[in-house]
Amino acid sequence: MDKILTASLGWIDARFPLSKMWNEHLGQYYAPKNFNFWYYFGSLALMMLVLQIFTGIFLATNYKPDASLAFASVEYIMRDVEYGWLIRYMHAIGASFFFIVIYLHMFRALIYGSYRKPRELIWVIGMFLYLCLMAEAFLGYLLPWGQMSYWGAQVILSIFGAIPVIGEELAVWVRGDFVIADATLNRFFVFHVVLVPIILLALAVVHIIALHEVGSNNPDGIEIKKNKDPKTGIPLDGIPFHPYYTVKDIMGVAFFLMLFSLSIFYAPEFFGYFLEKNNFFPADPMNTPEHIEPLWYFTPFYAILRAVPDKFLGVVAMGGAIFVLFLLP
Ligand code: HEM
Repeated sequence: MDKILTASLGWIDARFPLSKMWNEHLGQYYAPKNFNFWYYFGSLALMMLVLQIFTGIFLATNYKPDASLAFASVEYIMRDVEYGWLIRYMHAIGASFFFIVIYLHMFRALIYGSYRKPRELIWVIGMFLYLCLMAEAFLGYLLPWGQMSYWGAQVILSIFGAIPVIGEELAVWVRGDFVIADATLNRFFVFHVVLVPIILLALAVVHIIALHEVGSNNPDGIEIKKNKDPKTGIPLDGIPFHPYYTVKDIMGVAFFLMLFSLSIFYAPEFFGYFLEKNNFFPADPMNTPEHIEPLWYFTPFYAILRAVPDKFLGVVAMGGAIFVLFLLP
């Protein structure tokens, strides 16, 4: 068996750099030996990305992107499809957990100054990932076609209307109609399941290639590439990512999945933070809910929008806040 495996690997290696890539990025990729708790969240973010794509594919097999069928198709998934409730909860609650992971991941970069030289580009790519992730969550939230889906999207898309001169026409162009309607749902579905996931995956790959070019930062800020063994060229303060950090990350994944399961099985709505009450009602263009609130991960931006009385200036302030984060390095 061993012989067959070695021969197969040799055959592949002669045609594709499989072992070379494994060694460069895992087996002989040296990482600082002092990673702590905060370094779990990169691998957890990768896992969440894969999990969202995986559960999303299964949801899409039964979901219907049609304004007259969407809400009922989600109810059908929840009640009649085998384990549909589990897949849907994993995906919907997964979005919140993805943001928890990403915010902790960004916080780590801030406390250890990982956005500074030579890691500026990793941070900037990370910011693009963050923007795409927000777009992905916003697009996905319209799909169940509940009251909050409808009115949340209405509020955000009407922001385009605040742009001077071209605003109103731009808003109609983006919506594909004068109000949020079937055309909007259709395009949101396509962007949510095809376009943005492809961009997210590509950016995640580029993020890690950039990281492996300069190497990871660490809690003590030691640049391990500056202190190498003169004979072997191996960083003296580093350890191979595999098996040391693959094992450590698996422990993080196990603990994380326990928390994730607790929410899925015992607190799916999580006091309205993960699933909002108003989204259990089908979208009704004739009935505006009393309070339109975004999910928790958008609240910093929503607070900026609400704090500035003029809609357009509010958008400028919000854009400014994001721009400052881009400029951090
Ligand atoms: C889908 C989203 C993301 C994925 C899959 C991802 C993945 C990763 C992975 C696997 C690592 C290496 C492990 C670690 O250091 O924890 C990493 C490092 C890093 N990421 Fe991300 N990341 C994402 C989003 C972001 C965002 C939004 C930012 C910030 C704006 C960011 C900034 C960084 C930085 C600065 C590092 C280097 C940290 C250091 O060496 O101390 N990432 N990322």
